[in-house]
Amino acid sequence: MSSTDRPLLQVLIASTRPGRVGEPTGRWVAQRAEEHAGFDVEVVDLAEIDLPMFAEPKHPRLGDYALSHTRRFSAIIGRASAFVFVFPEYNHSYNAALKNALDHLSLEWRGKPVGLVSYGGVAAGARAAVALEPVLLALGMRPVAFAPIPMIFQFLEGDGDERRFVPDAEVDKGMTALLDGVAAELG
Ligand SMILES: Cc1cc2nc3c(=O)[nH]c(=O)nc-3n(C[C@H](O)[C@H](O)[C@H](O)COP(=O)(O)O)c2cc1C
Repeated sequence: MSSTDRPLLQVLIASTRPGRVGEPTGRWVAQRAEEHAGFDVEVVDLAEIDLPMFAEPKHPRLGDYALSHTRRFSAIIGRASAFVFVFPEYNHSYNAALKNALDHLSLEWRGKPVGLVSYGGVAAGARAAVALEPVLLALGMRPVAFAPIPMIFQFLEGDGDERRFVPDAEVDKGMTALLDGVAAELG
């Protein structure tokens, strides 16, 4: 939680399946964001948030949520100034849990800069990022930077809960550029 007047950056881990590489990857992104010193940093893990499939009776832009899990999620996302989305490529698009999370809210996303960290095989999740961009624009978000991670498994070390993301120099440089890009948008 924010204890300073620095903007709050949320690192959103989009993958929800057991054994996901998104979790160690997102933790590394959050650690890099903390080292960047431009933000307070919070991890938003969609596996922990555990949203059911979207079932709000009213359009989210009204902010009149019927369901307690939507109200909880609204309070979390509403306090962010900016985001980094860490998301996998599933079947040449981004994962369904991320779309479900985006659809749940409206004003909470609007106008906020977002850096995109996609990952997958040789295409580095690029098709997922391309599919995601018009959705972000529809929500009025500002996608400002992109750091794709190719062949993600080469950067994972250890097993189970001990699994860590260990980048090479290129991936690390890409993360610095992404965080600089998000920080620049926050002035
Ligand atoms: C349902 C599903 C579809 C996938 N489709 C793609 C794909 O289109 N392109 C790709 O590069 N990798 C694909 N993969 C491989 C994922 O990139 C890889 O499993 C990665 O670990 C998924 O991220 P996660 O572990 O954080 O869920 C797919 C994986 C799953 C489970």
